[in-house]
Amino acid sequence: MSLLTLLGAVACLAGVQAQSCLNTVNATGYLNYTTVLGYFLQDVPTTNASTFDYTATNFGLINRTYPSTDGLTANLTQWQKFEAQVNALNANAPLNTAYKVLFMGRHGEGVHNAAETYYGTPAWNCYWAELNGNATNEWFDADLTPNGIKQALIAHDFWAHEIAVQKIPYPQSYYTSPLTRCLKTANYTFAGLEFPKYYPFVPTVRELLREGISIHTCDHRRTRTYIHNLFPTWNIDPSLTEYDQIWNGVTAETNAAQDARSKIVLDSIFSSDDHTWLSITSHSGEMGSILRVLGHQSFSLNTGAVIPVLVKAEFLPSGPAPSHPPYTTSTHCAAPPVTSIATLAEGCVCGATVTAAGIVTPIYNVSSDYPSGAGFQATDLPQGPTSNVVAAPSTYGA
Ligand SMILES: *[C@@H]1O[C@H](CO)[C@@H](O)[C@H](O)[C@H]1NC(C)=O
Ligand SMILES: *[C@@H]1O[C@H](CO)[C@@H](O)[C@H](O)[C@H]1NC(C)=O
Ligand SMILES: *[C@@H]1O[C@H](CO)[C@@H](O)[C@H](O)[C@H]1NC(C)=O
Ligand SMILES: *[C@@H]1O[C@H](CO)[C@@H](O)[C@H](O)[C@H]1NC(C)=O
Ligand SMILES: *[C@@H]1O[C@H](CO)[C@@H](O)[C@H](O)[C@H]1NC(C)=O
Ligand SMILES: *[C@@H]1O[C@H](CO)[C@@H](O)[C@H](O)[C@H]1NC(C)=O
Ligand SMILES: *[C@@H]1O[C@H](CO)[C@@H](O)[C@H](O)[C@H]1NC(C)=O
Ligand SMILES: *[C@@H]1O[C@H](CO)[C@@H](O)[C@H](O)[C@H]1NC(C)=O
Repeated sequence: MSLLTLLGAVACLAGVQAQSCLNTVNATGYLNYTTVLGYFLQDVPTTNASTFDYTATNFGLINRTYPSTDGLTANLTQWQKFEAQVNALNANAPLNTAYKVLFMGRHGEGVHNAAETYYGTPAWNCYWAELNGNATNEWFDADLTPNGIKQALIAHDFWAHEIAVQKIPYPQSYYTSPLTRCLKTANYTFAGLEFPKYYPFVPTVRELLREGISIHTCDHRRTRTYIHNLFPTWNIDPSLTEYDQIWNGVTAETNAAQDARSKIVLDSIFSSDDHTWLSITSHSGEMGSILRVLGHQSFSLNTGAVIPVLVKAEFLPSGPAPSHPPYTTSTHCAAPPVTSIATLAEGCVCGATVTAAGIVTPIYNVSSDYPSGAGFQATDLPQGPTSNVVAAPSTYGA
């Protein structure tokens, strides 16, 4: 069922930049999401995310029968039966309810992922991630590593296999984060596959599908012009500004802020896209947030991995008011930390000879990239820490 007419007011208005979009969404109704359980191994609490291989498990689709295909004699694949089941769910749903299947793919390994492994997480979070790169590698808006490209091509080959063997439904719409690693992962995954003319692979780049905003430069995006030049035929969210107005190297999204933002982009997609089978290419942190909004159990994806989710979306006349939780100010060191503290999950000691304490100012002068000078919530920053032991953000830039 289309929620289009019901939910126009919830959608993020075109032409409005993300910040004002976040503040001006006028929700006259409430979209309530639930993950429909019983279809995918990734929904089952005993499935181990760290060892799970979507290519060895038919994307995780559980072998089972469905009410809609009971008694059917046709020789259908598991995905064809699941498609029939989803169609039946939609056909029997009340007018305020839609079922959609999201294929959410994490980008392949980025330069920043490799660098975090190289430097170790504490040193990465407290210093190196705040730089644009080192003498040999750049991780500002990190590109894919050769291994990351390989992972995206594994997804490509697996889609080709599933289309040929399982007759899996084609994605009908494609969405991607504006960060380079996702743009390229979406391209390597789907370019060259044969799709029906009526469901072409033409992604829409959505600002709010980007990774959790951190002070890491890997989460700082390039310009709209760059994205357009990289993939000239793709659609770009009208609200995506030329320069990144959200990342400022100082403030970071909390989980609550990120979940509020993820709900906005999901509401926008669910209220404007009548299709059922959607592909989303995004990040570990952002997909974790989307899964929280969908009421899905936590399921960490390895780089390049894909997770399908059957989502039930109900339009309710009212619900919790939209919230705009504040960002926090992140601290970091002005030089590589001298050591890390095991008792702090991501703790690091900045070093007495460097700067007495963690700093909140960007190491790089990024102002030339911000002609408007408008960082996200750049005013009213809390004071920096008074100790030289700082807790670095733990989940950023994945
Ligand atoms: C939200 O939209 C409704 C209907 O368009 C309007 O009546 C109401 O004043 C708006 N509320 C706000 C806070 O803008
Ligand atoms: C999941 O697998 C990893 C790697 O084999 C293992 O270290 C971890 O203990 C497992 N987790 C659970 C909950 O079994
Ligand atoms: C489903 O069954 C097929 C063969 O009947 C098997 O190859 C496949 O691994 C099974 N998938 C899952 C997720 O159990
Ligand atoms: C059903 O399809 C499978 C896979 O294509 C094939 O191996 C099998 O022989 C078919 N069974 C019947 C009864 O047609
Ligand atoms: C830069 O970081 C990469 C890891 O991403 C590492 O392999 C390389 O050696 C580093 N270069 C320098 C000059 O330290
Ligand atoms: C897009 O994917 C195709 C097919 O793998 C590849 O040839 C091309 O270089 C990719 N484009 C970019 C910009 O990565
Ligand atoms: C959303 O759906 C869940 C599951 O059915 C329910 O527990 C919850 O109360 C609903 N939320 C609202 C705001 O109605
Ligand atoms: C940062 O750049 C701005 C504008 O180019 C300049 O006014 C300012 O002095 C620079 N700050 C530092 C620390 O270099």
